[in-house]
Amino acid sequence: MKPLILVTGGLGYIGSHTVIELAQSGYEPLIIDNLSNSSYSVLHRLETIAGKPFIFEKIDLNDQAAMKNLFVRYPDIRGVIHFAASKAVGESIEKPLLYYRNNVSALVNLLELIEANEVSGMIFSSSCTVYGQPDELPVTERMPFGNASSPYGKTKQIGEQILRDASSDKTFRCIALRYFNPIGAHESGLIGELPNGIPSNLVPFITQTAAGLREKLRVFGNDYNTPDGTAIRDYIHVMDLAAAHVAALSRQLLGKQAVNYEVFNIGTGQGFTVLQLIEAFERVNGISFPYEIVDRRPGDIEKIFADTTLASDVLQWRAKRSLDDMMHTAWQWQQNLMAGKTTSTTQPLYEKI
Ligand code: WQD
Repeated sequence: MKPLILVTGGLGYIGSHTVIELAQSGYEPLIIDNLSNSSYSVLHRLETIAGKPFIFEKIDLNDQAAMKNLFVRYPDIRGVIHFAASKAVGESIEKPLLYYRNNVSALVNLLELIEANEVSGMIFSSSCTVYGQPDELPVTERMPFGNASSPYGKTKQIGEQILRDASSDKTFRCIALRYFNPIGAHESGLIGELPNGIPSNLVPFITQTAAGLREKLRVFGNDYNTPDGTAIRDYIHVMDLAAAHVAALSRQLLGKQAVNYEVFNIGTGQGFTVLQLIEAFERVNGISFPYEIVDRRPGDIEKIFADTTLASDVLQWRAKRSLDDMMHTAWQWQQNLMAGKTTSTTQPLYEKI
């Protein structure tokens, strides 16, 4: 019997890629998703990739009765990977209460059910956003929380605090993974990032501009203290990120955690500027697209990249895929989207500007 793992938000960008890694690593995912930022078509494509059906339930974490019933119907849940959350920095500034409801109170609902049903642990989707603009780079897990520049970032800081308290001297254990910038797509080209409406993140905006869906990319600032003046981030292939979740889950289920609450930076340890990403995308895919330098985006930090020593030494995990592969798979996914090979979503694929 494969260990049954509850994957909340399992049809989302990172959740769907992790479902594939889980299935290929001997686990049985139990996928729940409220489809607020995904669609059924992702489930069908996951089953195509894996060559097997998956258990899926359309449930909102804030629906306490439905969530309670889920744990009654699935008494054998061995672990939980919690992705379900709202994650658009800009939207969180406009709708902070939505973010506190979806990212904080929903987490508490889930933790109460985990405790009541004696599920041993959780892998939590945290973010490098908790660091704000670090004083030193590369940033290590020992560094304190910074000024999270948005309600989204604050919900991740609060979430980690809740989990640290929920796991202190109890049987419940947690591993929080602080993601850097996930980009790219599964090699099949059948799943990838498909943000609702106009993308706020860099890479989907690049691919949609290259595809002619956006007039041009605006590069937010070139007056930062970096080699070419544009901001630096630690971009990580989403499949490497998915593998990190399986490594953390295995560590937890095998009882290898040294303490009940562990945190790991999940990045590559290397930073790239926006212009370096644009160069890599155009070189790898043999395509150019229009962009212009504009003012900085409010709330953006200048540079961040991870110290990945802990993940390497303790999780025995390292990112393997290159920036070129990230750019290649991101473009392949965009092309498949355009060719209608990937989705039967009811929502319009792209909001016109
Ligand atoms: C990257 C760089 C922009 C868009 C994201 C998520 C956050 C967290 C970390 C998971 C920045 C520049 C962007 C554009 C641009 N992930 N940019 N033009 O802000 O680092 O945060 O990753 O928790 O949730 O939001 O990512 O892709 O928005 O920006 O120049 O149209 O690209 O200024 O330097 P960010 P991003």
